[in-house]
Amino acid sequence: MDNLATKKFYVTTPIYYVNARPHLGSLYSTLLADVAARYQRLHNKKVFFLTGTDEHGQKIAQSAAAAGKEPKEFVDSFIAPFKDAWALYNIEYTRFIRTTDPEHIAAVQAWIERLLVSGDIYKSHYAGFYCTPCETFVTEKDIPQESLQEAAIPLCPTCGRVTEYVSEESYFFKLSKYQEQLLDFYKDNPHFITPPERMAEVIAFVQSGLKDLSISRTTISWGIPFPGDKHHVTYVWADALNNYITGVGYGQPHKEKEFNFWWPADLQVLGKDIVRFHAVFWPAFLMASHLALPKKLLVHGWIKIGEHKMSKSRGNAVDPIELAATYGVDQVRYYLVRHLAITQDSPFTYPELEQRINSDLAHDLGNLLNRMITLALKNNLSRVVPPAELSPESVVLYETGKNILVRFMQEMESGYMNRAYAIVWEYIQAVNKYFHVREPWKRVKISQQDFDETISAACHALYTIGYMCLPLMPTKMEQLLQQLGMSLELDKDIYAELLSEPWNKTFVLTQGEILFNKIEPQKEETMAEEVKTTPTITIDDFAKIELRVGTIEDVQTLEKSDKLYVLKVNFGAFGTRQILSGIRKSFTPDHLLARQGIFVFNLAPRKMMGLESQGMMLFAKEGQERLILISPEHKVENGTQLS
Ligand code: MSP
Repeated sequence: MDNLATKKFYVTTPIYYVNARPHLGSLYSTLLADVAARYQRLHNKKVFFLTGTDEHGQKIAQSAAAAGKEPKEFVDSFIAPFKDAWALYNIEYTRFIRTTDPEHIAAVQAWIERLLVSGDIYKSHYAGFYCTPCETFVTEKDIPQESLQEAAIPLCPTCGRVTEYVSEESYFFKLSKYQEQLLDFYKDNPHFITPPERMAEVIAFVQSGLKDLSISRTTISWGIPFPGDKHHVTYVWADALNNYITGVGYGQPHKEKEFNFWWPADLQVLGKDIVRFHAVFWPAFLMASHLALPKKLLVHGWIKIGEHKMSKSRGNAVDPIELAATYGVDQVRYYLVRHLAITQDSPFTYPELEQRINSDLAHDLGNLLNRMITLALKNNLSRVVPPAELSPESVVLYETGKNILVRFMQEMESGYMNRAYAIVWEYIQAVNKYFHVREPWKRVKISQQDFDETISAACHALYTIGYMCLPLMPTKMEQLLQQLGMSLELDKDIYAELLSEPWNKTFVLTQGEILFNKIEPQKEETMAEEVKTTPTITIDDFAKIELRVGTIEDVQTLEKSDKLYVLKVNFGAFGTRQILSGIRKSFTPDHLLARQGIFVFNLAPRKMMGLESQGMMLFAKEGQERLILISPEHKVENGTQLS
């Protein structure tokens, strides 16, 4: 996403295995790509967004057999559930590719033929272990020593399941030949992978030595027939990875121009479980084909339920369709993209989803728009013209808005969409505060001109917010812009315009529907709650407790505990402390990072799980377990004492 000068943007998602319906994890990869695509369209770029399904291989063949169906009939039955889910979530893809599409099959076969001629693919014999759930050959160096000693058949290093021993004739891709070229590429392109930590893992893997990769199987038949050898079918990853080029015309002579326009991909979104395939095998395949390499891989973490990855096979998958029916499409889009920490694993919890809808969407954003329009209309102001001059407070809001937009764009360009939207929420808070400070409901009684100016400034700020949030919540933000009297403008670089233009717009306000309704807290929780009080204490008792404000600068999880976070908290002149807090169920690390909180500073240190906790963080507790973070109304100096 780094080059704003190029007028095209090609983004891909992984192609999904079609042995189950889409779940929240598959939605997550797809949503990130959709938000990136929509953002780039608003920069007036031509966008190609490719997604689709990975339909061959042993795993699919086994699932089809278990369902008593032919593989093709079986995979066909999953296409509608995927397409319907993406349509429901407003995923605006350009093409949905299936690896059973005839032109993909022909292009993969032509690719193999070319590499057979160049010598990058050759025939030999494979003896080793294969993991069917991961569709991967398990190399010796990946097998943990204990696993080798304990059992004759080692466990897969990725998913921990039992592998199978395979000994068969096979075609190989000369991966070893590309070791140095790959290392040079990583060195020259340090931003190839977001986040950078993943790059270090990849480099270490390549440095430890690459073996040639088996790319065909003789013992299965559900796959692309290997050209010129009817005993072999193509190994799924050699088939699947190539979708990224065949999907935009590679190997299809009548689409050569199209391919040359779109390739290389600008952004490839994928989960951390498939980094090696995308950061090592895939670039090597492209090098062998003399094709440019993708510009960026955005590698996201897993959505977890408790300690476990969400997956169909674990039976803990959350159905995106049900979630949308209960909470709304844009609300779920918002929560997943804004509140899961893209680069780490994040827990999914219903209380957090509900809390974010109520506080961020209904309260911070929806209520702001609603209050502003209600007040303006009540005072007969529906056509809001730009003021001759901005008040000093409005100038600050204007400048903050430009600054926020720059920071928002930087984060979006580098793939950190969650951070980009955290920045937008800083602005929403600033606009709320502006409204509070300007008190237009009082001002209108003194000066109509001042009142009009305040409303105009709030409209301009909300207009900027609307466009920043449009990629994330397309339906709701179109409604927001409509309530400001603005129709969508999609034929220009809207962000460049927002950045350079003064606040010179005229808004025509209409009271529309409430954008985000509050979610009622779950009944059992509130009803079960008793009104409990504790005996009174004297002021001297209270004076014994030292409460201070601190900023959370680091959040680490503890392997041994599913509740605790280890926080590093900065108390300014009072130093930095390690504080353990059992709040993992209520907050993602991203939600806590950089936030100020209130801490009991003079609590005697105590050990938990072998680590010392040097204080205690305070929260408001709603119901049985819903925790709400408490922060000062605006930033104060770290270490400030509460009195
Ligand atoms: N078919 C391969 C990809 C081939 S790409 C050339 C595959 N498919 S998958 O269906 O198993 O996974 C597809 C994507 O969904 C991966 O990026 C994976 O990380 C993501 N997710 C699946 N479960 C997930 C979570 N619980 N959380 C977040 N994303 C996860 O791998």
